[in-house]
Amino acid sequence: MQLRHPSIRLAMAAAALTLCGYSHAQTGPIKVGFMLPYTGTYASLGNMIENGFKLYVQEQGGKLAGREIQYFKVDDESEPSKATDNVNKLIKRDQVDVVVGTVHSGVALAMARAAKENNTLLIIPNAGADAITGPMCSKTVFRSSFSNWQPAYAMGEVAAKKGHKKAITLTWNYAAGNESVKGFAEGFEKGGGKVVQNLTLPFPNVEFQALLTQIASQKPDAVYSFFAGGGAVKFVKDYAAAGLNKTIPLYGPGFLTDGTLEGQGEAAQGMITTLHYADNLNNPRDKAFRLNFAKTYKANADVYAVQGYDAAQMLLAGLKAANGDIKKMNQVVAGMEKAEIDSPRGKFKLSAAHNPIQDIYTRQVKGKLNEYQGVAIKQLADPGRGCKM
Ligand code: BEZ
Repeated sequence: MQLRHPSIRLAMAAAALTLCGYSHAQTGPIKVGFMLPYTGTYASLGNMIENGFKLYVQEQGGKLAGREIQYFKVDDESEPSKATDNVNKLIKRDQVDVVVGTVHSGVALAMARAAKENNTLLIIPNAGADAITGPMCSKTVFRSSFSNWQPAYAMGEVAAKKGHKKAITLTWNYAAGNESVKGFAEGFEKGGGKVVQNLTLPFPNVEFQALLTQIASQKPDAVYSFFAGGGAVKFVKDYAAAGLNKTIPLYGPGFLTDGTLEGQGEAAQGMITTLHYADNLNNPRDKAFRLNFAKTYKANADVYAVQGYDAAQMLLAGLKAANGDIKKMNQVVAGMEKAEIDSPRGKFKLSAAHNPIQDIYTRQVKGKLNEYQGVAIKQLADPGRGCKM
């Protein structure tokens, strides 16, 4: 027996869904595709990002805006030549709703191109490639981390204020390293310093000896280096083993000492870096995050975990604005653009190019912590040069 007219039944079903909190047209899980390094020098960074993202979802009861989350994974190996094929495994084969990745700037540049071409939502939880929130900026591409310019420029200012006049830079020769030393030089030279030489080696090479010998013979006032993950552990230890840390201070963006102190031990003690996170910010949000992270994963959180956690917060902001319907891309994007993210690093909003506007902290290594020393630059926005949405 037909109890009600079909249009009344439809209206009742819609009302029931609304009562549940979200009147989404879609059902079933939201497909999240992690494209991260799970092998190689950046493997630990990829794992921390994934753990941070999943922790936030778990804190929301395993759902975002009422939707279950289904995860897909691709190991990008920090290998730019495989990046387009790898991201298409998620976009075309697995048909994910959102891609979360990656760490390496060269890989992320290819991912951003693919996301733009396919109108896919991409949240970058680390890679700082300046162009992604510069000339390549795009409606569907967001970053929960930083631009390579941000911590580097701040470190340049800090080093100049310390009175250093002559610096040598040393990094891996790829987008992140090159942009980082460029940002440092901008801040340092504005403050009256001069970068006298830029030394590089190919990514992810860790044969530093010949370059350290060159630094020892040139005797600059300071060295600025971008390295991260396993490479940063080896570099900081080699720098100290060569005795250079006794005479020439080594500076860098905080990646040089974040998530690496266990391995660097004595060699890193006293080092000063700049970053949008520190290990003892001591705000209630950060304390709760670090406690839950430590309980869940039996490991201390680091900047990469924070960036993964905040990528999930950004996704939730977009989903809420679209009532849980991720296919409503314009509403998702608008929600993310407007959001204020309550991050463990401190609250932040996004620039017009979708990059966090955030405080950059000065930190110093003490024991196993990157201790907060002060704010190097308040609410630093990447200039977003060349971005036209
Ligand atoms: C990058 O490639 O953008 C990057 C990698 C590790 C740490 C920071 C930046």
